[in-house]
Amino acid sequence: MHTLQINSTEKTAVYQEILPQIESLISDEPNLIANLANISAVLKAAFGWLWVGFYLADHNRRELILGPFQGPLACTRIPFGRGICGQSWAQNKTIVVEDVNRHPDHIACSSLSQSEIVVPIFDKNQQLIAVLDVDADQVSQFGETDALYLGRLADIIAEHHNGAV
Ligand code: SME
Repeated sequence: MHTLQINSTEKTAVYQEILPQIESLISDEPNLIANLANISAVLKAAFGWLWVGFYLADHNRRELILGPFQGPLACTRIPFGRGICGQSWAQNKTIVVEDVNRHPDHIACSSLSQSEIVVPIFDKNQQLIAVLDVDADQVSQFGETDALYLGRLADIIAEHHNGAV
């Protein structure tokens, strides 16, 4: 499935439709893995992105470990500070990469990936729970709209997270 070609107005409409659905979907389920699995499925179906998924923070080992995802197989472990995902953790911020081929820190799990956004998800103590990673098969597929709404999604996940995995 290829990334759907939609403009930011259409994207906003899709985000505004699915975010309340996701909030309702996870509101009665305390298990983080189950919720991240369903969220991956909802995002993949809504946007058709190449890869949508989560890497979970292992603070003892200072690395990210592959969690629920939809798309081609992916790297299982990413050290703190490595790749876009590890950088998002190290810098505590969302990172948008227009063209992964031009980004020196990018870790290529799939040669089909051309652009990427990584959004960190923090708990109430500002500890990283996970990062949301989305890859598209074309360049420049992510921008402020995605950062805004995927950031809201991260907040929704964090609000419903009670430490249970
Ligand atoms: N590209 C990511 C690695 C994860 S895969 O894209 C699923 C990175 O540079 O951190």
